[in-house]
Parts: sequence; C-alpha cells; structure tokens
Amino acid sequence: MTGGSKRVPHISASVLNADFSHLGAEVRRAAEAGVDSIHLDVMDGHFVDNITMGPVVVEALRPHTPLPYHSHLMISRPLRYVRAFAEAGSDVIAFHLEADDDPAAVIDEIHRAGRGAGLAINPETPAERALPFLERIDLLLVMTVNPGRGGQAFMTDVLPKLAALRAEADALGLDLPIAVDGGVNLETIGLAFAAGGDVLVTGSALYDTEGDLGGVVRALRDAASAQQPHLPDLERSRS
Ligand code: DX5
Ligand code: ZN
Repeated sequence: MTGGSKRVPHISASVLNADFSHLGAEVRRAAEAGVDSIHLDVMDGHFVDNITMGPVVVEALRPHTPLPYHSHLMISRPLRYVRAFAEAGSDVIAFHLEADDDPAAVIDEIHRAGRGAGLAINPETPAERALPFLERIDLLLVMTVNPGRGGQAFMTDVLPKLAALRAEADALGLDLPIAVDGGVNLETIGLAFAAGGDVLVTGSALYDTEGDLGGVVRALRDAASAQQPHLPDLERSRS
C-alpha cells in the first residue's frame, strides 16, 4: 500500500453518520458502493464526551460484509477491551496514544490477539510522540478533527504533520498505511492524499447521501487520485 510503491487511495466508510436504526444495511450499502473497509468509531463517554458502540455492535455487524473492519477506539482504557474487539471481528484495532494505557503494551496485546495494531493521534499531538511506535504498528491514524463526532470541518493545519510522518515512515522503509480521519470529503480528500494519507476515512461525505453511494465513492477516489481539491463543476466552468 505504501513505502515508495505507487500509492492508491483506500476509501474507508465511517458509519458514525449512518442511520443507526439500520446499521447492517448501511454497512452493506457502503460495501456495495465499493469502499475498501469499514471504520467503526467506538466512544466511551470518557476519552471523548460521546458514547457510540461496543464489541456487541461490531459482532452484530460482522456478518454483513467480508471487508476489513477498522475499530477506532476513542476510549481511555483500550488495553482492557482489545480481546473483546478482536473476538467481535475487528481486523484492525486503532487506539489513541493519548489514552491512559502504555501504548507498547496495547500494541503487543493487539498482536497477541492476531489483529493489526493501529495508533491514533489527536490533532494537537506532535508527530514526535508517534515516532517511537512506527516500526511496531500496522496503521497510523492521524485525526484531522478533534475526536467525538462526525460532520466537523477538516483541520488543514494538520497536513504538515501528516506529511512529516509520511516522510519519516518512508525514510524508515516501512510499508505503513497512514489513515486520515475527520472532515474528509470531496474538497479535502485530495489534500489528505497528497500529504501522504492512504486510508481516507469518510463519514458524513458518504452517509449524507441518499440511495446509491457508488457515484460518491468513485468521485472521492478520483479526487484523491487527482491529488487536487475537487472543484465543483460551477467553479471549473468559470476557470
Ligand atoms: C470522529 C471520528 C470520525 C468521524 C468521521 O471522532 O473518529 O471517524 O466519524 O466522520 P466525518 O467524515 O463526517 O468527519
Ligand atoms: Zn474515526
């Protein structure tokens, strides 16, 4: 996926903004639209104010698609819940560097559970704090909003940090996918991909759309590949 080879955008559907009364169908809708993975936002009402889902929801959703499930744990004590999210069907378990547990211990526990270890960092967390873990993780998740809810604006001032982490991972010769999470949409996905993001998490940009999502996913993928901000047709006709 990375490390010098030609990067291709990986579109990951965050179901946080989907219709929770039909979450299984919403997962299938994204899968049928051609996304590459499903992003499950887990919030404990402590690490962030919001409360969303636990392992029981991941388990219920697991049969709806064979696509990879990335569980994004915005919880204070990830170490205690690694096994439960692994057994529920997560393929990648991403926890926050800012959480209470020792990151190295959480990474080891995720690997002992046979899953991919993801490390998430908040917008204000400097790149330097993630560097000691780059060679031990399977996914780095760079937040471009403050965690806690969908539909927020993309923080462009995180882009230099993303580019620095991409350069560091490449300099180490790591094949390390970097996810970008928060405010990724047609206007911002090109910026995120150009700065070094590979796994582009989209929530409201996807689920604020009725019916078939295929066209949205194709447009997001094209905008990323073009590494250009997506100019609405109106703008294009003027230029
Ligand atoms: C926010 C979550 C994100 C969010 C993305 O705390 O981690 O995954 O759901 O949704 P949008 O794309 O609407 O910002
Ligand atoms: Zn997320």
